Amino acid sequence: MKELSLNILDLAQNSLTAGSTWVMIDLEETEDTLRITLKDNGCGMSEEMVRNVTDPFCTTRKTRKVGLGIPFFQLAAEQTGGSLTLSSIPASVSPDSHGTVISGLFYKNHLDFTPLGDVVSTLCTLIQGAGDVDIIFSHKLPGGEISLDTREIKEVLGGIPLCEPEVLVWIRDNLTEQYDEVGQNH
Ligand SMILES: Nc1ncnc2c1ncn2[C@@H]1O[C@H](COP(=O)(O)OP(=O)(O)OP(=O)(O)O)[C@@H](O)[C@H]1O
Ligand SMILES: [Mg+2]
Repeated sequence: MKELSLNILDLAQNSLTAGSTWVMIDLEETEDTLRITLKDNGCGMSEEMVRNVTDPFCTTRKTRKVGLGIPFFQLAAEQTGGSLTLSSIPASVSPDSHGTVISGLFYKNHLDFTPLGDVVSTLCTLIQGAGDVDIIFSHKLPGGEISLDTREIKEVLGGIPLCEPEVLVWIRDNLTEQYDEVGQNH
């Protein structure tokens, strides 16, 4: 993929499909590294499933639906010298506290680093399609932090749905302003 933000969209889609009521997206950057972490409270995965999804060459692959979202994300991280971690607690094991955490570490100065791309547009697309699922976003940069929490926005808006065009424009402007403040043009 040309932009890591599209990988993020793909992973967030997994969380929505898993029946999560919220998805946390955390981006943490230093001068040299980028860590992308998604956490959700969806149905989770069994241990076997976790093993299978992170190994695209696994011979037991036919035991799962063929998917490339996670292997692509893993590849994008590993080709920079980084790595992927995935941990999950399935609802069948823990009915009260289940979900998935997926995290990729990227070395930004590596030749094969894929740029993050248009995070603001990606978030707007995600929020537009997320329905009632809350999106909790934070991007920590050396120059400051950008954050957005749809739970807070919903509280202010009363009953107005987030997918209303005016609301999405406001979200886009708000994020763009925050990025401008930390000196990043996204
Ligand atoms: N956050 C998650 N919660 C629960 N299950 C997940 C989660 N992410 C992935 N999975 C499981 O792992 C499988 C593989 O995910 P992956 O993104 O690699 O492929 P996919 O979503 O099946 O297909 P694709 O992303 O290529 O359209 C999913 O089908 C799903 O069963
Ligand atoms: Mg997927």
